[in-house]
Amino acid sequence: MCGIIGYVGKNNSAPYIIDGLKKLEYRGYDSAGISILQDEKIVTVRAVGKVAELEKATLIVNPQGNTGIGHTRWATHGKPSEENSHPHWDCTGELVVVHNGIIENYLTLREKLQKLGHTFQSETDTEVIAHLIEENLIHTRAVSNEEQLIKAVQKTNTQIAGAFAIGVMWAHTPGMLVGVKNQSPLVVGLGKEENFLASDVPAFLRHTNRALFLEDGEMVILHAGNVTVLDVKGQEKKVKPTKISWDQKTAEKGGYAHFMIKEIYDQPQALEDTLRTAQTDFAKLLGVDDAALRQLRNIHIIACGTAYHAGLVGKYYLEQLAGIPTSVDLASEYKYRTVPSFEHTLAIAISQSGETADTIGAIKKAKKLGFQTLAICNVLGSTLTRICDGTFFTHCGPEISVASTKAFTSQITAMFALALCLGKANGNTSETDFNKYAKLLTGLPKDMAQTVKMEYDVRHLTRKIYKADRFIFLGRHVNFPIALEGALKLKEVSYRSAEGFAAGEIKHGPISIIDKGTPVFILMPHDDLFEKMLSACQECRARGAQVVSITTQDGVKQAQDVADQVFTVPATGELLQPILNVVPLQFLAYWIAKRLDCDIDQPRNLAKSVTVE
Ligand code: M6R
Repeated sequence: MCGIIGYVGKNNSAPYIIDGLKKLEYRGYDSAGISILQDEKIVTVRAVGKVAELEKATLIVNPQGNTGIGHTRWATHGKPSEENSHPHWDCTGELVVVHNGIIENYLTLREKLQKLGHTFQSETDTEVIAHLIEENLIHTRAVSNEEQLIKAVQKTNTQIAGAFAIGVMWAHTPGMLVGVKNQSPLVVGLGKEENFLASDVPAFLRHTNRALFLEDGEMVILHAGNVTVLDVKGQEKKVKPTKISWDQKTAEKGGYAHFMIKEIYDQPQALEDTLRTAQTDFAKLLGVDDAALRQLRNIHIIACGTAYHAGLVGKYYLEQLAGIPTSVDLASEYKYRTVPSFEHTLAIAISQSGETADTIGAIKKAKKLGFQTLAICNVLGSTLTRICDGTFFTHCGPEISVASTKAFTSQITAMFALALCLGKANGNTSETDFNKYAKLLTGLPKDMAQTVKMEYDVRHLTRKIYKADRFIFLGRHVNFPIALEGALKLKEVSYRSAEGFAAGEIKHGPISIIDKGTPVFILMPHDDLFEKMLSACQECRARGAQVVSITTQDGVKQAQDVADQVFTVPATGELLQPILNVVPLQFLAYWIAKRLDCDIDQPRNLAKSVTVE
């Protein structure tokens, strides 16, 4: 899981590459490197740590050249070290490679290449690519160096197995870069007299908003003035550029201290944008007719992490509004369990990035089982969206912070819209209910705008509790997944121990970990389960917990009798309430992490999209 970038143009490439790498740091940030083609020689600079370290080192070396590649790494094979940082080179030092993904057959290839006399410098799987291209170059006849490199890379592409996006630069082909994509993202940015190769759009968005999304098996050849895409068979292919509507400002922090807090505040707009998509005709999205939608008998939701929590909320929606039995699986589990194959099954993969390897693997399995597949995804052109029959784009804008916030509330909103449409199509939701819910949905961005005003109160509370060893979150029904999400968010960014439970479960075991002073956050909107949540407050308080109640206006008075602190969230419908209830928990995680001086946007050991299994 890494970020790659390449630049070929009229200007010195190093500043473009360093800038692009900074935008790709969310993909990995344990080491970084850059190679520039300078006077037909490759100059490489690599550094352990974040891109800022590489930037310092590059300024000292000051390489000059208008063709270059760069990489920011999240280690998979070999520890984070300078030797294992990309770019990696062949025995001649004239060919360099950057790679995102995993080469599954690298050990076999490495042994073969070593027998042929190749010497390896790193523990990575990537280095075999450089040596394999070198070997193929030796055996390739061509009329020009450019043709020779293209043919050698094409051959290499057939010899390596796994998931990869690769950028290649050769000292003998100045002004040219080659890229290959297979199951890892690779995008081309089309500029004026300059072109880019990157793992994601923000890497070049400052310079161009015209992008080419490559398909698996495709290869791309970049020069300053032109870009050629070759399909799996090596035939030239016309690809229509996509105009990216996100501008650079949107992808940057917009004045906030961290992306996480900016993205929490983005939520009213994010929901508005998601709801614009929600008017979509789902039958059309899936490429089926309304009758096929009405026939759906089963739904399987597949996702990881925060997206999985959105899926758990979605199950309540689909079963209540559409009356369709729904299962929710962690993608990493779905892939390896026996899934009975039933007709009229829809598999829904939820993913912010659309690049999560587990989710992609699971949806491929669902396809093999003959299920219709729908992605709920935020990233245009991502791998998941190309695999699925249809995609509901959440359109909540780029989410840069590793901790997912606005993508989560957008995913739940999307699930609600989907359930509502399915319920209308199959008659499980009456016209009156449909209109009632549609009205609540429309009001959601305004409710969210009201909810984000809670930051000050939550921030104030964190002053008292941020040093606690353990935090507990409780919820029921649609708010149970919010308890799980509250705990995940806190763990991710503050490294504190936190657990979420279904409130009814605490007496079956978890209550034993509550003792004097343990902060317990109880999600208790004033709904049918309110009385039961009051009891949960009392049970925790009796064990000395510091109880924080998150309720709606009608519940405030009673909550005050049983809680040490009460937060009031605007009331929307019972089913939609989780979308607002998660907000104080997002602020809580942010402020505890801030007080503990944690690296909020890039927490230790984590990366934004987990593109390896
Ligand atoms: O890009 P995805 O939504 O597929 O990512 C899934 C999880 O890796 C992700 O939600 C992860 O749990 C987040 N860091 C949570 O904040």
